[in-house]
This record gives sequence, structure tokens and C-alpha cells, in this order.
Amino acid sequence: MSTAINSFFSGKSILITGASSGLGWALAEALAPCRVKLGLLGRNTEKLQELAAKLRYTGSEFIVLTCDVQDRHAVEQSVQEFHQLAGGLDMVWVNSGISRSTFFPNWDWQNVEAIINTNIMGAMYTTKACADIMVQQDSGTIVAIGSVASMRGLPKHGIYSMTKIALNHYIESLVAELPQLHFILIHPGFVDTAINQGNPNRVFLMTADKAAQLMLKAVAKRKRYYIYPWQFRLLYPLVRALPASLYQSIAKKLVKMRK
Ligand SMILES: NC(=O)c1ccc[n+]([C@@H]2O[C@H](COP(=O)([O-])OP(=O)(O)OC[C@H]3O[C@@H](n4cnc5c(N)ncnc54)[C@H](OP(=O)(O)O)[C@@H]3O)[C@@H](O)[C@H]2O)c1
Repeated sequence: MSTAINSFFSGKSILITGASSGLGWALAEALAPCRVKLGLLGRNTEKLQELAAKLRYTGSEFIVLTCDVQDRHAVEQSVQEFHQLAGGLDMVWVNSGISRSTFFPNWDWQNVEAIINTNIMGAMYTTKACADIMVQQDSGTIVAIGSVASMRGLPKHGIYSMTKIALNHYIESLVAELPQLHFILIHPGFVDTAINQGNPNRVFLMTADKAAQLMLKAVAKRKRYYIYPWQFRLLYPLVRALPASLYQSIAKKLVKMRK
């Protein structure tokens, strides 16, 4: 990591939701050398403790927060706890998320509700609880992890792509409502983590470490919107701009091909 990026994060109190694996874990690993106070939030306490123990040598401080983001009160409590123990809240990574197939013939309400409650409600609970503190202190950065799946309605993953475009719109609205805060919306492409294991179509795949480096660089540059990798940065606006009829006929073909 460059000195400029290191000094941007140095000394900050940073909360990461979904730190027990994948992108959240890689972000914690990348941030730890910057002498930060890191809140590691998730349901898997053992994994969070393992991560904190692994990174303690860096001299950063770690606060493990066991929390299910689907539970609003638990999120509010965890955010307050982090704020008090860390002595501040400079930044939050709204990163916890799940994805499951919601193909209509295999519809399962439990899956659907879990995706919506984690990716939309969980993200909103986290954002609101952190923004309340940040508004009081008149500063703070909120990093929201969307997905390139928000590009259009994604066959077989319609609920997941809906949750990510919902997050996109929610954050966009907050940017206007809370100009004293800095928001950055990040849409990752395929990163090699547990969320997409078994998906044979992971194009432009990258490692979680590389993804974390790219995201830290984007945040340190105070970007407001960031799509990676570059191939998706080009594709995203093009696919968004396709006429509905053209997109739908491509999507239908994809469903047939992948049956
Ligand atoms: N990997 C990709 O290709 C990719 C692409 C685009 C966007 N994303 C987004 O990146 C984010 C991180 O995903 P990932 O790739 O790192 O997947 P991952 O390895 O499966 O990690 C997901 C994280 O979310 C946490 N989580 C899930 N449900 C939770 C809940 N109810 N309460 C609290 N935490 C919860 C998990 O922690 P616990 O199990 O400990 O609760 C875990 O740490 C997600 O929002 C995902 O949509 C990923």
C-alpha cells in the first residue's frame, strides 16, 4: 500500500460489517498495518476473533462485535459499542451480504427474506446507526458495498440484484440529504470469495486481496462511485443503457443456455 493511502487511513476508527470472511476479512488485513481501530462485525465470533488474533502484531486495535445485521437493535447496540470503545467512528464499510439463487421454479421464501433482510434492511440499519453518530460529529465516511449484479435484473438472482440496486438508490438519496458526510458506493465484479463458490460464470475474477487494495485506493481518493474491475466499469453503464426489449431477449437466452 502506498504511503499516501496508509496515511489517509492511519489513526481512524473503522467499522467493517461482514469481516469474518471474504472482502471484509481482506479489508481488515489490508487496513491493519495502518494503525487503525477496527471494528470487526459479523455472526461468526470465532472467525472474527481468529482474524483479530492474526492481525494483533500490527499494533492496530480490534473490537470484535458479534451481531446479526438483520436485527436492528443488535446493530444499533454494536455500533454504539464500537463508537464508545474506539472513541470515535470515522468510517463504516457496509459490507455484510448474502446471495442465493432465487430462480422462480425453486422459489424459497426463507432465501428471499434472508437476502432482503441482510442486504437491504441490514445495510440500512448499519448505515442509519452510523450516520446518526456521524451527523452529530459533523463528519464521517460511509462505504456501501453494492454489486455489478445491480446492473440490470439478473435472471436466477433477481432478488440479489434488486437488493443491490436498492442500496444504490438509498445511498444516492442520502448523499443529497447528508452533504456533511462522505458516501462512496462500490460495485464489485466477481471476487473469489465464499459468496460465489460454485458459480461457473465468474468472469474477470480477482482475489479478495486485490479487491481490497482497489477499494482502499478508491476510498482514499475520495471517490463517490467506484466499479471494479475495469472491464465491468466499461460494461456497467453500457448494459444499463440497453433498451428493455434488447436486454430482455439477451436475458432470456442466458436462462435457456444455463438450464
Ligand atoms: N465476492 C463477490 O464476487 C462480490 C461481488 C459483488 C458484491 N459482493 C458483495 O460483497 C459483500 C461481501 O461479500 P463476500 O464476497 O465477502 O462474501 P462472503 O465471503 O460470503 O462474506 C459475507 C460476509 O457477510 C456477513 N454476513 C452475512 N449475513 C450476515 C448477517 N445476517 N449479519 C452479519 N453479517 C452477515 C458474513 O459474516 P457472518 O457469516 O459471520 O455473519 C460474511 O462475513 C457482500 O455484500 C456481497 O454482496 C461480493
